[in-house]
Amino acid sequence: MKTTLPNPAGIISSAGAHALRCVHCGVVQATTDRMFRCHECSELVEVIYPEWSGAGREFGLRLKEIWRERKASTLPEDQSGVWRFRELLPQVDGKHIVTMCEGNTPLLRLTAAARALGLPNLMVKHQGMNPTGSFKDTGISAAISVARSQGFSIVCCASTGNTSASVAAYAARAGIKSIVLLPAGQVTSGKLAQALEYGAHVLQLHTDFDGCLTVLHEVVNKFPAYLLNSLNPYRLEGQKTVAFEMMEQLDWQAPDHVIVPGGNLANSSALGKGFLELQQLGLIRSLPKISIIQAAGANPLVRTMRENGGTELIRVNAETRATAIRIGNPASWRKAATILKTTGGACEDVTEKEIAQAKAELGAEGVGCEPASAATLAGLKKLVHAGFVKAGESAVLVLTGHMLKDVDYMLSDQVKRVYGPMDAAPATVIKTLETIYAGN
Ligand code: F0G
Repeated sequence: MKTTLPNPAGIISSAGAHALRCVHCGVVQATTDRMFRCHECSELVEVIYPEWSGAGREFGLRLKEIWRERKASTLPEDQSGVWRFRELLPQVDGKHIVTMCEGNTPLLRLTAAARALGLPNLMVKHQGMNPTGSFKDTGISAAISVARSQGFSIVCCASTGNTSASVAAYAARAGIKSIVLLPAGQVTSGKLAQALEYGAHVLQLHTDFDGCLTVLHEVVNKFPAYLLNSLNPYRLEGQKTVAFEMMEQLDWQAPDHVIVPGGNLANSSALGKGFLELQQLGLIRSLPKISIIQAAGANPLVRTMRENGGTELIRVNAETRATAIRIGNPASWRKAATILKTTGGACEDVTEKEIAQAKAELGAEGVGCEPASAATLAGLKKLVHAGFVKAGESAVLVLTGHMLKDVDYMLSDQVKRVYGPMDAAPATVIKTLETIYAGN
């Protein structure tokens, strides 16, 4: 068959040239308003790449080679699990790239959970192994590099904690000031401490995440600050690279299912965009079904899909101990609904008890994560039970945050398993150990 691309090298050099397209009305524009919304209908926009879309498999195969070769390179952008894939990212001059080797996260096989669910190919992609301990780093590296290339000296975000930690760190690396708005009393101490340590201006507000995001609109309209929430489409370009990395790790065989937790609902669509682009370039044959799991107390997408098929968002008052996904009015719900439909994924919610149970099971396999991430295993169990995920199918759970992000959560559940405090006498310790051995 004749290739549509006589000169892949030529395309590769200009590959990152991009435009922004409205996800609702489809209007293509070069710029948007300061909240990254469409000039015509105010919906969110996505990044598109007219230069290489339609380039086909020859281009894709060349990229695969280049990406593999870069693994041996010592250039900072080649050591980044985001910028190594830069042909499929917005073009940013190398001197503006802000990177801390983000991405490069492990894909681990589960054993006990795999056996229990009849899924021998059950894996986790551990995005909690990023520099600040969450998947946010891949997106923030991309978006803050764009901010820097556009000359911004202040960046800002509203956050349930992980975005703020990541924004604070990457801003510090870039020599840029950061302002973060947090819902007072609803962010774990670990995440709050990160933002402070990295030198962010931290404003705690008497509201929830959704309230913080509303205030942020005003801030961005009033001050020349660059918005780094996931409304920012460049964030999603960084986040989509997890799909590229996962496919390299699976030798370009897409799994049947990929399962992500859903909060503000951008990550699911970023992941979906990554897989769609690989399919477009002929690098994977089939798309995985991307399923989204929410906490039962913060389940606006689940209700929206169930009650009106994804046409109009049903907001909820969010409440869950999985504070990362305590969001009732998710900004990117439309993108998430589209990806569910495009890939044929499911949307499910899980109780607090199911999340805690799943988290403990992952922990018992030596895989720590924060509660929001454990929702994926809890959701998978429901999807297996419902027959949506079938015996023998392959599945990857995206673990979005590191276990040390929320130590209080674990201690409240696990502290009963600690022996003592007890006498520091060897006899006392030995006596206790004898009961442990006896129970073996
Ligand atoms: N998991 C973790 C650990 C998160 O921190 C978040 C979102 C999500 C899942 C949900 O991802 O919003 O793209 O659906 N945390 C944001 C924050 C809201 O501010 O850190 P999403």
